[in-house]
Amino acid sequence: MRKGMFALAAAGLLATGSMAACGGDSGDDAGNSGTSGSSIGKVGVILPDTASSQRWGSDDPKFLKAAFDAAGVQVDIQNAQGDKSQFQTIADGMISSGVKVLMIVNLDSGTGKAVLDKAKSAGVATIDYDRLTLNGGAQYYVSFDNVAVGKLQGEGLVKCLTDMKATKPVVAELNGSPTDNNATLFKEGYDSVLKPKYDSGDYVKGPDQSVPDWDNAQAGTIFEQMLTQKKDIKGVLAANDGLGNAVVSVLKKNKLNGKVPVTGQDATVQGLQNILAGDQCMTVYKAIKQEADAAADLAISLAKGEKKSVTQSIKDPESGQDVPSVLLTPKAIYKENVKDVVADGFVTKDQLCTGDFAKLCTDNGVS
Ligand code: BGC
Repeated sequence: MRKGMFALAAAGLLATGSMAACGGDSGDDAGNSGTSGSSIGKVGVILPDTASSQRWGSDDPKFLKAAFDAAGVQVDIQNAQGDKSQFQTIADGMISSGVKVLMIVNLDSGTGKAVLDKAKSAGVATIDYDRLTLNGGAQYYVSFDNVAVGKLQGEGLVKCLTDMKATKPVVAELNGSPTDNNATLFKEGYDSVLKPKYDSGDYVKGPDQSVPDWDNAQAGTIFEQMLTQKKDIKGVLAANDGLGNAVVSVLKKNKLNGKVPVTGQDATVQGLQNILAGDQCMTVYKAIKQEADAAADLAISLAKGEKKSVTQSIKDPESGQDVPSVLLTPKAIYKENVKDVVADGFVTKDQLCTGDFAKLCTDNGVS
């Protein structure tokens, strides 16, 4: 079913690409000038912050811009830098500048909904990008299968603990922001793997805490406290690479790095380096290019006043409504297949294989 969806998204993208070509506008690289005469309206995108994950500052804006540029559609991509009132100000500005479509990654569902409501009452179409705005009623939701992301993390931790021959390990969980619906879904995924292990007595449930706003510094403090209270933590389910790196730093201080497997998500340069160094057990790679392409494709159809049908949907747990969705498939990354992330063009060898990592890259087939 997911494969079918991939094909559909790809077909949609092809259609978009060829239309841009038919437009005969040679101003592909000329920024917005080549599109001002186009009948397709402008699209606004609001990203959440640049601190909780590498992706929002570099990957998403890059791939989104490329997708809109390729279709010759004007886009305004801004980042709220973790500030909810700034988020609303940006949205107000975009709406009054006449965007036809607004695509958001909310900072929480409450402020996200306020923005979506305003957009709707101004006749602007809406898309939830990556995070579902609960009770928000966006026209589409484009993301990954986030329960599957969590499952890969849980299975990854089990694999690494098994490889280390850990017996009855105490497992700590460091969850994402309680205001991010994705964090709830990730936890649902990894707990579906870990809970049976706790229940059977194979694993011992250790501390389990959420990190407000995915704040990496706070994650370090929280994990330090966890380790003080429970010195025998033998595995850490960290919900993304930023939280994972905070854990790795604390483990390093305690000379425990490499002895306690840690998970992550996002396949950031730092996360992949931690994996190559043996300090992090795994990460989850989400092909942001596919996510950006799928979202841009739907945004462009909305901007043209069309309503593309998609094959998936997600039930908004608050409103009970089915939101038409594109949910992509995540992939687990261990030391052996770090090279796949480079081969996919998400991270370059130059970014990854710096200094001491050059040899680790060679040893692990990164080319
Ligand atoms: C995203 C993750 C990201 C996290 C922190 C989640 O909603 O899905 O990719 O690591 O937010 O920004």
